[in-house]
Amino acid sequence: MALAIMCSGGDAPGMNPAIKKFVDYLYERGETPYFIYDGLEGLIDGKIKKAVHKDVAGIVHRGGTIIRSSRSKRFFDPAYRQEAWKNLESRGIDGLVVLGGDGSFRAMDVFSKEYPLNFVGIPTTIDNDIYGTDTCLGVDTALNVIRDALDKIRDTASSFSRAFVVELMGRECGYLTVVSAVTSGAEICIIPEVDFNWHVAKEHLQREMKHGRNYILALVAEGTEMTSDIADWLENEIGMETRITILGHVQRGGSPTVADRMLGFEFVVHAVDHLFSSERSNKVLVVQKSEIKMMEIDDVVNHRYRLDPELLGMLNRLD
Ligand code: F6P
Repeated sequence: MALAIMCSGGDAPGMNPAIKKFVDYLYERGETPYFIYDGLEGLIDGKIKKAVHKDVAGIVHRGGTIIRSSRSKRFFDPAYRQEAWKNLESRGIDGLVVLGGDGSFRAMDVFSKEYPLNFVGIPTTIDNDIYGTDTCLGVDTALNVIRDALDKIRDTASSFSRAFVVELMGRECGYLTVVSAVTSGAEICIIPEVDFNWHVAKEHLQREMKHGRNYILALVAEGTEMTSDIADWLENEIGMETRITILGHVQRGGSPTVADRMLGFEFVVHAVDHLFSSERSNKVLVVQKSEIKMMEIDDVVNHRYRLDPELLGMLNRLD
């Protein structure tokens, strides 16, 4: 049996360790691994090749993905999905491991209902916005990249008595921002899931400033679109000179942490084992209370991820 691996959507650290394990594990089992390059775009265009050990030598520490990724508009069109299926069928590939997020799983769900394909989805996104899983591949590295940046920003903020507004990624999800606020002790945390209480926050900050606070670190999730409003408020209402840092794609890069390497390895072994099992139905792997489990694809794509109330409770919000 031949299995292929593909990355789809935003790249994330941990993809390369997963890709390496995929190749090593399939050869260990006497099977043939294939790479699909450039995600769904490459699947449509037939950018598929047998993988060998040499392809994955020396990649475990590298961020991003050696087989690249994409977001494909063409895959919405049934005619291109037919092309994609032909490319798999002609090579005898009937099992696929997909490293991707919500949108990629949705696309695979449609595809696997049209054609007799088996696939396992591995939740991979720095946003941590996939229903059913406590964490996704790439999240731990992104959090550590953010922590490093925030520690540095705090150094300059405190030295220069300034407020800093740092905008973090996550699309509509505030996970990265909440965890970063908790672990970096930010004074303000603005996320799409919780309304910000301007009045209470102002009173709180003014009280602290009266007692000697000379700098402020405010984290804003990109999904709120409130970065410049918060900066104006800090400057004009709170009365502190303010700078904005948009961390941007720095958050998606970097050498995967030990946790992300381990998670990538474990996810792949579970995915391959499932594709070789008698059941072989389409599933998404999830992590629940440190255990890897399988979830029905329909469950994952038809529900919305919600932030854990316990995590929100840890946030020392200013209201
Ligand atoms: O989904 C990952 C992510 O980095 C989001 O946090 C961000 O909103 C988006 O992708 C950015 O997309 P692009 O790389 O296409 O600019």
